[in-house]
Amino acid sequence: MIGATGDLAARKLIPALYNLSVDGLLPRGGDIVGVAPSPWADDVFRDHAKAGVTQFSRTGISEPAFRDFAKRLRYVSAGANGDLGPLRSALTRDHRLVYLAVRPSSLYPLIKGLATAGLAEGTSIVAEKPFGHNLVSARALNVALHKVVPEERIFRIDHYLGKETVQNLLVFRFGNSLFERVWNRDAIAQVEITVAESLGVEHRGAFYEETGAIRDIVQNHLMQLLMVATMEPPTSFDAEAIRNEKIQVLRALNPVNPKDVVRGQYSGGTVDGMQVTGYRHETGVARDSDTETYAAMRLNIDSWRWSGVPFLIRTGKRLKARDTRIVIVFRDAPLQLFRQYGVQHVDNNQLVVHIQPDEGIALSFVAKRPGPDVMTQTVGMNFSYGTSFKSSPPEAYERLLHDALNADHTLFIREDEVERGWEVLQPVLDNPPHVAMYKSGSWGPEGAGRIAKPRHWHDPVDLHLTGGGGA
Ligand code: BG6
Repeated sequence: MIGATGDLAARKLIPALYNLSVDGLLPRGGDIVGVAPSPWADDVFRDHAKAGVTQFSRTGISEPAFRDFAKRLRYVSAGANGDLGPLRSALTRDHRLVYLAVRPSSLYPLIKGLATAGLAEGTSIVAEKPFGHNLVSARALNVALHKVVPEERIFRIDHYLGKETVQNLLVFRFGNSLFERVWNRDAIAQVEITVAESLGVEHRGAFYEETGAIRDIVQNHLMQLLMVATMEPPTSFDAEAIRNEKIQVLRALNPVNPKDVVRGQYSGGTVDGMQVTGYRHETGVARDSDTETYAAMRLNIDSWRWSGVPFLIRTGKRLKARDTRIVIVFRDAPLQLFRQYGVQHVDNNQLVVHIQPDEGIALSFVAKRPGPDVMTQTVGMNFSYGTSFKSSPPEAYERLLHDALNADHTLFIREDEVERGWEVLQPVLDNPPHVAMYKSGSWGPEGAGRIAKPRHWHDPVDLHLTGGGGA
């Protein structure tokens, strides 16, 4: 685990490995070697791991289970300027999975460092997102990686693919015959995907200045959600069959027109009842920063299934609530039959896939209100994970680390996927529209409504698992 002293390791990777250990899902034997430039002893790393597990493990910590897990933990000080030499003598096994949990700018030197240290043989690599900074750098990274290890031993990670609800979307679409029949331009008027966060950039200001919302979320998490929601049925549930269909979506996606993009940056405001500072006052951020903390785009998929359907995607930090969802807005009913009773408008049917924080699927439709008059009301049918399955799902990183250890590529990003993802976004990276300010605690810049016209965005408050909303 290169980058072992960092934020991702403490919050996600170490707790995920601990829970895999608790569930007996780690390979027998085998060490977990933390690697970073800091001159730590094994014990310091174990204490650091314990603090991470205590604070972030979804199951909490059990002393005996942690003692058992900690027996595997070792630490090697290496990696400064890509020098991984000290790691060589510390690794005793022929095969290893090397997790590169580092900033995008450190990836390239570390990949070269693996080769220079003679560690290419027997190594598989897990590379964190964002993979590259643009199309050119992603291609260069792929070339550099392939000089060290072949594609079959590369796992480009996007933790959204490890979320249960995202995987369930595939089962929902391809395991039920009802929905797939209407999953196309004939029945669907608009698709929206929102990844809203109430958190700001926290202590990651310096990292965020290098990335911004488009590189941090749109190029990866939002693109992956889009692909899973719109891909054609694969011929089987194999890794390559699924990835072949996902890439077809990206190929059919028109490169984004900067006119169809809104970039925003949060100013101070109130979120969850707390007064918060604006982005430009966060630690590590330039006072005149132009980095976007919000991005919204309108996309078109030029395919037989989706031609003409607007896809609206957006993400932002310091928004009103944490809420990730896919909203499928169905077409209007062909006739307004109830006008004679004074009903001027009935809401469109909507299917909402709630990804977080409440995981579930909600279908809204119109019903007649009880009584002698014809009056309509939008109501909902809801499936919620919490109610139907009483156990908490594993964390995305648990699933993905387990899959990488078992060499299963299904939920990892292929070389062509990552490159095409950048290619689609390159026009906006080359010509970014100006950044509009939005208040922390709002739903983003007011101008975002422009790209949704003639329809509009459905802000998460419009629809909840327990009810329906207007179209
Ligand atoms: C990460 C981004 O990939 O995803 C973060 O780098 C973001 O900026 C995080 O906060 C969101 O993940 P989740 O699982 O909390 O939605």
